[in-house]
Parts: sequence; structure tokens; C-alpha cells
Amino acid sequence: NIERKVDSVLALMNLNEKIGQMVQYAASWDVTGPASSEGNKFKEEKLKKGEVGSMLNVTSVKAVREAQKLVMENSRLKIPLIFGYDVIHGYETIFPIPLGESASWDLEIIRKSAEVAAIETSAAGVQWTFAPMLDVSRDARWGRIMEGAGEDPYLSSKIGVARINGFQGDDLSKNNTIAACAKHFAGYGFGEAGRDYNTVNIGEHELHNAVLPPFKAAAEAGVATFMNSFNEIDGIPATASKKLQRDLLKGEWAWNGFVVSDWASIAEMIAHGYAKDKKHAAELALNAGSDMDMESYAYEAELEKLLEENKVKLSDIDDAVRRILRVKFQLGLFDDPYRYCDEEREKNEIYTKEHLEIARDVAKKSIVLLKNDTVTTKKSALLPLSKSVKSIAVIGPLADDKDTPLGNWRGKGKYNSAVSLLEGVKSAAGDDTKIYYEKGIELTSKTVAPGENQFLHLMEFNTTDRSGISAAVAAAKKADVVLLAIGENAFQTGEGRSQTKIGFAGLQQELLEAVYAVNKNVVIVLMNGRPMDITWAAENVPTILECWHLGSQSGFAIADVLFGDYNPSGKLPVSFPYNVGQEPLYYNQKSTGRPMSTQVTYSGYNDAPKVALYPFGHGLSYTNFSYGNVSLDKAEMAKDGEIQVSVNVTNNGTRDGEEVVQLYIRDLVGSLTRPIKELKGFEKTMLKAGESKVISFTINTETLQFYTAKNKWEVEPGDFNVWVGGSSTTKNKAEFVVN
Ligand code: IFM
Repeated sequence: NIERKVDSVLALMNLNEKIGQMVQYAASWDVTGPASSEGNKFKEEKLKKGEVGSMLNVTSVKAVREAQKLVMENSRLKIPLIFGYDVIHGYETIFPIPLGESASWDLEIIRKSAEVAAIETSAAGVQWTFAPMLDVSRDARWGRIMEGAGEDPYLSSKIGVARINGFQGDDLSKNNTIAACAKHFAGYGFGEAGRDYNTVNIGEHELHNAVLPPFKAAAEAGVATFMNSFNEIDGIPATASKKLQRDLLKGEWAWNGFVVSDWASIAEMIAHGYAKDKKHAAELALNAGSDMDMESYAYEAELEKLLEENKVKLSDIDDAVRRILRVKFQLGLFDDPYRYCDEEREKNEIYTKEHLEIARDVAKKSIVLLKNDTVTTKKSALLPLSKSVKSIAVIGPLADDKDTPLGNWRGKGKYNSAVSLLEGVKSAAGDDTKIYYEKGIELTSKTVAPGENQFLHLMEFNTTDRSGISAAVAAAKKADVVLLAIGENAFQTGEGRSQTKIGFAGLQQELLEAVYAVNKNVVIVLMNGRPMDITWAAENVPTILECWHLGSQSGFAIADVLFGDYNPSGKLPVSFPYNVGQEPLYYNQKSTGRPMSTQVTYSGYNDAPKVALYPFGHGLSYTNFSYGNVSLDKAEMAKDGEIQVSVNVTNNGTRDGEEVVQLYIRDLVGSLTRPIKELKGFEKTMLKAGESKVISFTINTETLQFYTAKNKWEVEPGDFNVWVGGSSTTKNKAEFVVN
């Protein structure tokens, strides 16, 4: 039915109108890329002529209605615009940054958080988000690692699909669901040295096995759009990659949505040294299968000429337009171009009490307890805190920071609107608990001003002003326990925020050591957007709680965990290194020919371990879980057969708690070398104190196949290991054979 409608609209369109559908303009007042110097006026004229298909960064019912009206009231065919916006972890109710949320390993709450984001976004007139980011990343130096689901392709696939389902629901035409966008296609997370936009050099098999799986899963889940990426792979900018877009995505995967370029990525092929001018860039991009031009102004200027010169085909233009129209039909925009413009919804459905409660729930489930050692003076661990603890010192530059928890890419999250740690602790602690607050130091010497655009902000760290440290030390001295909130400023991660150092910036390490010198009962409340070098802290401080940038309800969620109202259940979706020199670091690495660790001439480092300080999948609880032996229903399976794996998991402690039971496999010998461990299943399960449960997984073709030396997905017969445990370092192993 939609296909007939698409064809009937296409049949009415002239060439300018077709090319116009392939153009996306940004509202120049809200830039998420290098701003065009050309202003807005010409955009208005083009909108009136019906020569624009989409706008980005136009938000609010009023603004969307105004732009849509220009088209609907002036253009010949009145083809509605589609409006896109980066809703990465919430529209105004801000959820944990995606990396943090991924630490929950809880697909239902991840879906729910995307659903809430869709409700708010659509209530503000917008029907398309540029999310989820599906870039697997193994490099903590890359600022955008905060935006994805971490280092593992399997986990990233599951989480990506949960997000897509949350945004799109089961019916895109509902006015409270929005189109999602699988980005960035592909390889963007593998930039050399973790530098944003940098060259990517990965082999064909690594591309298929490590980078593409989340995108394939997204295409299968029916994601409405894809965005290509800024980087080149093996010498070809992704925007010009026919192999990726036309052959794989639209060909082999038979996906029928549209591909939008990244901001100016078509024109940037000139700087790449791949296109000689804009015309050449437009030719390369269209021929490769990029359907919509975001802010390059290349398609509108060049496609007509290119067609006359037979350098592009009308059938490819028609195909791109068809794809764009299809999504507009799916969204119901042709039925009513103003269906997302409802002032009542805008008033009542954004930043609601209910949404904030969901944000708190997601936030507390995203927290990872990295370390909670017994302290000798107390003969117990510091966490959970008793509500009748006599005194707490809440210290640190992030302790009463109401902005940093919103993280980067915070949509319309209002400046300084998050609940700070201090506020959360005050609301949860008993009436008799004394709370001493000291900031100690400023983290940055130049901070984001309210309303200032994140992309225009350059940060400087305070490295000289120590005037608050003595007061912080005094507060630490008189308190039973210190909560020290340190980590990263909101804008230390995100686009264009690559770093060569991943330790505590500014004077934070100094503050930490000064406080620890007078009181050993320190809980580090870590707020950050990337894996950090926290080795000194891990070696000295008894307790570390990974709190990411948790969003609007950060302080309440952290207090829920600190005081034991919620038993932490998060597990790391990325490896934390001993130091930055180990990056890129990931658990599912290859063995190498010299994996042993007892001699000098092995694959390791002279000055650091080769493994992670805190590995992928790691996370503690206030209770203890033990695992029985891995049991298999058979020791051998056919290539297309199945094996049932089960394990008995017991909660040995005195508190109820959730555990993420993780299944890993290793294919011992392959036509290509295989990773030493690969996540292939997980289940988050609640166990009451003392309870045992049998958790089962099925191993089948999907679990064992990989992109082999024959360039196809298949299972290769041979010996396999399977592990089930509570982290990627589990030793709980069984063996089986595939015939
Ligand atoms: O969606 C983003 C993309 O991730 C990076 N460049 C700008 C786009 C639109 O804001």
C-alpha cells in the first residue's frame, strides 16, 4: 500500500523536487557541526519551493510548525519535511549516557528509556532521532565512546535493537514514536589512536566480525534510517563506499530505509583527498548510495549537471527519493504533516514526574560497583552506608555539580538541572547524619556558560588554584566516611573530545591523595564518559563506584545505591586499562603467537599488565553470587545443531540482588584466528538471598558462526570452549565439539 503511494508521489515530481527531497538543512541557530556562513534566508526560499526534504535541529512545536508551513503553504507538491535531532540519551528528561546505560545490561529498561525519549521528542514536534550510535569502540581515548554500547559487537547489537524498538515502537505512524537512525556506517569507532574522524584501517574480516554485526541487527530490526560516517576505511571515505551502502546494506541485507550523510561528510571528501570538488563528491556519494545530503549543499548544486553528463543515474535518484518518501509515509506525515505538532502534548508530556522516575530507575541500574573491599577498622566494606552513619564528607569538584551528570549530547536537558550527588545524599541520609560538603578544587577553569553550544566550548583545566584543598582535608578528617566525586566534566567526552590522557584531569589526583592521607574510608564516586586510568585509586582506595554521567536524576540514583536501597547490578561494557598506553584494549582480543606471560619475549608490556584493570563484564554486588559447573546436554553437535548449556547460580549473601550471567565461547582453531573469548549470551536475573537458579542458554549456528576466510558467515567444525560466569574473566569452563 505504502509502495503504491510512494510511486504515485514520485510520478508527480520534477527533477528539482526530487533532488530537493535529498537535501537536509540545519537550523543555523543550533549547530551540531561546522556552521555554514550562508545564513538562513536562502533556506527559507528553498523550503517554499519544495526543494528541501528534511531539517535538523529545528525543535519545539512552534518552530517545526513554522518550517513545515513554509513547505505546505507555498510548494507545488506539498511534500512534508521530516525533522531530525540528536536525541542520544533523552530529550529533556536526561537518561544516563548510552555507555552508562549499557552497563545495566538490562534490555527492557534500555528500550524503555528510548521510548520515553521518543515520547518527549515527538511531543516537541520532531519525528526522527540520530540514534542509536552502534559504533563498537575499543579505545578509551575516543570521546564518542560515551555514545555507544562499548567494546563488544554482541552486546552492542542487543542494546542497539532495544533502543531502536524503544524509539520506533511497533508502529512508526503513532504520533509518539519516532524514526531511529543506525549510525555511523561504518568503522567510526576504530579511528587510529582514538582520534576523532581519523583514518580507519581494519581488515575485511574484522569489519564483518567486529564492526558490522550491530548494523546488521539494526537493519533486521527495521531501523528506518542509517547515517554514514566521516571516516575513511582502507582508503575510501565511508560516504563514498558503494560496498557498504549499495552492495551490503541495500543489496545483501535488502534494507529499504534511507541513508543520510553525516554533517558535511559529502563535501569533506574533498579534504580527504578523494573528491576533487563538490561536484565530484556529489557523484561519488550518490553512486555509493548516500540518499540524503546533510549540510554539504552538494546534491542541490550538482546532481542536475551530473545527470546531464551521465555521471549519475536517474534511477539512483529515484531510488533515494523513494526511500525518503517511504519513511515519511511510514511516519504518517502525508496524512497529517502537523501530526507531531500538538501544543497540549508539548506542555504535558515533556520532563514529567513519571519520566523522571523512569530516569532514576535506569540510572541506578547503570551504576557499577568496581571495588568494595573490607576496611580493617570496620571489619566490613564501606558500602552500603548505614542511614545512621554519624557523618559523611561529600567532597570534590563534581560533588555538587548539577550539570556534569547530564553528560554530552544532552538534547534539551536544561543547564544545571540534574540532581547533584550532594542533593541525593542529603535526601537519603538519616536526620542525625552530619554532612560536610567541600568542593576542594574547581575541575575546569573555564566552564560552559548556560545555553552555550557544546560544540563551541573548549575546556581548560584548573591546575593552579589549590585554595580549597585544606578545607576538604579538614572535612575528610572529621567524617566517618568520605564520598569523593571526581572524574570527567560533561564535555570531556562526546564528539571531537578525543584525549591522550585518561586519568584524573587538573588537580583531582592531588585532592584524592590529600583526602586519603587523612581518612582511609574513601568511596570514589566516579563520574565519567569513558574508561579512565584509575590505577592509583584502585590500588589504594577501598571502594569505587562507577557512576558515569547518569542524567537528570543522578544524585538520587547514586544515593539509592550508596545507602543500599538498590543493590548495584551493573557490569562494565568496556575494559578499564591500567594506563592509556594499553589502548585500544578489549577483552575479545586475539591470542597472538606468544600469549604466555612468563617470559620477556611474549606479547605484553614491560611496564604494565596486558589485561584490564577492571575487565569487560565486571561489576560487584552487595551480595555474593557463586556459579556451579557449566553443564552441557551433549559434548558434540552438528554444524546446524544445538547444545543446551546450563549453570546453577546461587546468591550466597544476605541481600536480594540481580546478577548478569554471561556466556562466552572460543572457537579454538579457525580458517581465521578467533578471539580468545566472545560474549554470545547473557541473562540478567534476580536472586533472592539464599536462592539458587538454573540459567540456560542455547548454543546454535547463530552463536558459533563467523565471517570466515571464505567470506561468508558459517560455522566451522572443530573444538570449542564455553564459559559461563559473572565477568569476562570467568574460568568456569566446559568443552564441546562441532562436527
Ligand atoms: O548525528 C550527528 C552525528 O553523529 C555527528 N555529526 C552531526 C550529526 C547531526 O547533528
